[in-house]
Amino acid sequence: MTRLLDVENLTLQFKTDEGLITAIDDVSFSLDAGEVMGLVGESGSGKSVTAKSIMLLNPSNAVYGPDSKITLHLDDGPIDVMALAKGKTKDMRVIRGGAISMIFQEPMASFAPAISIGNQMVEQLQIHTDMNAKQATELSIEMLDRVGISDPSSRFKQYAFELSGGMRQRAMIAMALSTKPKLLIADAGY
Ligand SMILES: Nc1ncnc2c1ncn2[C@@H]1O[C@H](COP(=O)(O)OP(=O)(O)OP(=O)(O)O)[C@@H](O)[C@H]1O
Ligand SMILES: [Mg+2]
Repeated sequence: MTRLLDVENLTLQFKTDEGLITAIDDVSFSLDAGEVMGLVGESGSGKSVTAKSIMLLNPSNAVYGPDSKITLHLDDGPIDVMALAKGKTKDMRVIRGGAISMIFQEPMASFAPAISIGNQMVEQLQIHTDMNAKQATELSIEMLDRVGISDPSSRFKQYAFELSGGMRQRAMIAMALSTKPKLLIADAGY
């Protein structure tokens, strides 16, 4: 099996008005390509913040422990995710929506409110693949269809707030899968 991800000694504290809150305390795990792993724990135990750490999506009050190490092994070589956090390497797009996609617990977090679902899907494909606008549009509509959204070409033109909750979740799954990520993180609250 080919190694895809190493999370080593991940520790994360949040700076709050009440002081530091430890959300992740020395967590390590690894994933091989094609492997499926489930992370289980009670509400508030740190599943979402662990998932967000891998994509560096925690807010700016997050302080990572000095020994925290996240390595993503891609075809072009390993990526030191924490070095991206420290600004040593500039391009976050490699991990966000490129090698890694995340299906968020809150679907509204995935979509910008003022850009249509379709334009966001097309934009993401144009950043991460060499598709032109026409190809990206066709694939996006096909993906919306594949996740069970009826009349996908009309839904493509709508905004996230115009969709039902379930449809938003489906659209988010369609968008997350369209770039063929190496790692798909599916975050659920239950
Ligand atoms: N930005 C933040 N600032 C301060 N504390 C935070 C922040 N984000 C998360 N936390 C805290 O970190 C802890 C872990 O939260 P997390 O969202 O990872 O839980 P979870 O395991 O995903 O729970 P659920 O199953 O309910 O989704 C919680 O105590 C939460 O209150
Ligand atoms: Mg959660």
